[in-house]
Amino acid sequence: MKSYITTPIYYVNGAPHIGHAHTSTMADILKRNRKALGYDTKLTTGCDEHGQKNQEAALESGMPITEYLTMRSGEFQRLFDMINVDYDYFVHTSRPEHMRQVANVEQRMFDAGLIIKKQYSGLYCTGCEQFKKTTDLTDEGNCPDHPNLGVEELDELNYFLNIEPYRQQLLEHIEENPKFVDPPIYRAELKRMLAEPLEDLCISRPKTRVSLGVELPFDNNYVTYVWFDALFNYLTNLDWPKEGYEQWWQAAEHTIGKDILKTHGVYWPIMLMSIGESPPARLSVHGHWVGPGGIKMSKSLGNVVDPIEVIEVVGTDALRYFLARNMRSDGDSNISLELVRQTYNSELGNKLGNLLSRAAKFSKKQFDDRVPTPGLFGSADEIIRISVLEAVNGFARRIEMADIPRLTQQLITVCDRMNNYFAEQAPWDLIKDPITDERCRTVIYVSLDCIRLVFEALRQVIPMSSNAALLMLNCLPNENEIWQPALDSLPPETKLNEIETLYPRITE
Ligand code: ME8
Ligand code: MG
Repeated sequence: MKSYITTPIYYVNGAPHIGHAHTSTMADILKRNRKALGYDTKLTTGCDEHGQKNQEAALESGMPITEYLTMRSGEFQRLFDMINVDYDYFVHTSRPEHMRQVANVEQRMFDAGLIIKKQYSGLYCTGCEQFKKTTDLTDEGNCPDHPNLGVEELDELNYFLNIEPYRQQLLEHIEENPKFVDPPIYRAELKRMLAEPLEDLCISRPKTRVSLGVELPFDNNYVTYVWFDALFNYLTNLDWPKEGYEQWWQAAEHTIGKDILKTHGVYWPIMLMSIGESPPARLSVHGHWVGPGGIKMSKSLGNVVDPIEVIEVVGTDALRYFLARNMRSDGDSNISLELVRQTYNSELGNKLGNLLSRAAKFSKKQFDDRVPTPGLFGSADEIIRISVLEAVNGFARRIEMADIPRLTQQLITVCDRMNNYFAEQAPWDLIKDPITDERCRTVIYVSLDCIRLVFEALRQVIPMSSNAALLMLNCLPNENEIWQPALDSLPPETKLNEIETLYPRITE
C-alpha cells in the first residue's frame, strides 16, 4: 500500500514561521503513522518560488533574485531538518523540469480550447495571490487574512480557464467521497464555495507586472499565475506525466491550512478534471495559529512566533508536541513561546519524563540494573495496562490529521493514570518487606512496560525523545518492522541503560 503525503509549498517572501512548521510537522506525523503500519511512504514539502509577492520581497531585499530565493528556501529546508520532518523530496518550483511540465500542460489546455483570453478587472490581494470578490472582503474592504495589505484594483488582459462546467462534477465527487475533505467543517465550507457559479480562473500575469514565473508557452508576454504553477508540484514531484506516478497519485493526501482551501478544493480538482486526471484522495485541513487579537499569524503581517527561537529555548520535541496536541480541529488556536514552555514542563517533563526516570532508576537500583520479572497481575495492574493499550492503539490505526490532537491528548491523559497507579502502589514501601517484594517487582514491571508502550506510540509525534527513552529501556523497536503494540513485550530481566533526564525543566 502506498501513501503520498504533501504539504503546501510555502512562499519565500519571508522567513518560515510556526504555521509552516505546523503543517510540515503534521504531515510528518502522518507519514510516520503510515510507515508504522507498513505503507510505502512518500512525503514532500518545499517552497513556492514564483509570483508577485516573492518578486516584491526579493526586490526589497536588494539581493539578486535567484540568490534571494536560494537563501529563503534554504531557511525553510533547514527548519524542516531541525524539526525532523522526514521529507523524501524538497520542492523548488524553480526546478527546470517542473517548469517544463507546467508549460506543457498549459499548451495542452490551450490546444484543447480550454483557455480563453479576455480583459478582466478585479480586486487583487497580493497576500493571497488571488483575485477577490467584494463579498470575500471585510466591511473595510480588506482581505480578512491580510488586512494591512489592502487590495489593488487591476484591469488587465489575461488568459483564463473556464471552470464553471466542472462545478457539478466536483460537487458529485464530494458527495460520493465523504472523506475527500477532512474534517467535516471544511467539507461543508467547500460545498458552500461551490454553491454558486464559478468565475473563470485567471491563469496568467502580464510580465509588465510579474516576471517571476513560468512563461506561457503560447504567449511570451505572460508568465503563469503562481497558483496554477504551484499546484502542479503535487504531480511533478512524482515525475508526472512519466509512467509510474499513478500509483502514488491515487494515494495523494494534501495537508493544508484553511486559508488555501479554495485553491486546493475548487481550482486544483477542476484543473485535474480538465486534463483527465483524478482529484487527490484527500484534503486534510487545519485551522490557524493566531497571534494576539486572534489575527492569523503571517509573514505578510509580521505577527509571528519564530520556530527557531522556540526550538532553541525548549527543543524540537517540545515544539512538535505542542503543535500536535493543541491545534483545534474546528477553528484557530493560540501559541506563544511561553505556552510551549509551560506545556513542555507540565506534561512532557512532569507527567512522562519524570515517571520514566523514577520507575527506571528504582528498577536499576533495586533489581540489579534490570527490568524485574513480574508476579501475577492483579486488578489494579490489569486496569492500567488495558487503559494504556487502548490509548496507544489510537496510533496503531491509520490516523487523519484532524485526529492528531485528540490522540496525543489521550496519551498524556493515560500518563496521569500511570502516575496515579505508581503513587497508589507505592513501590518504595513494597520493597521494604520481603513479603511484598514480588508485588514490588510486578508494579515496576507494569510501570516500565506501560511507559514503553506510550513511547512506542509517541515515536510518531516526538520521534527523537521517544527513541531516546526506548533506548534507555533497551527496547528500541526496529524502524522497518510493522508496529503492533502489545503488552508484555518488554522482556523481563532486560538490562537497563543509563537513565538520563529526558525532558529537563526549562525555567527561562
Ligand atoms: O499559500 N497557522 O503559501 P504560504 C497555521 N504558496 N498554518 C499556517 C499559518 C498559521 N497562522 N500560516 C501559514 C501559500 N500556515 C502557497 C501554497 S501550495 C500548492 C501553494 C501554513 O507561505 C498553512 O499550511 O502562504 C497554510 O495553508 C500555508 O502555511 C500557507 O503558506
Ligand atoms: Mg499565505
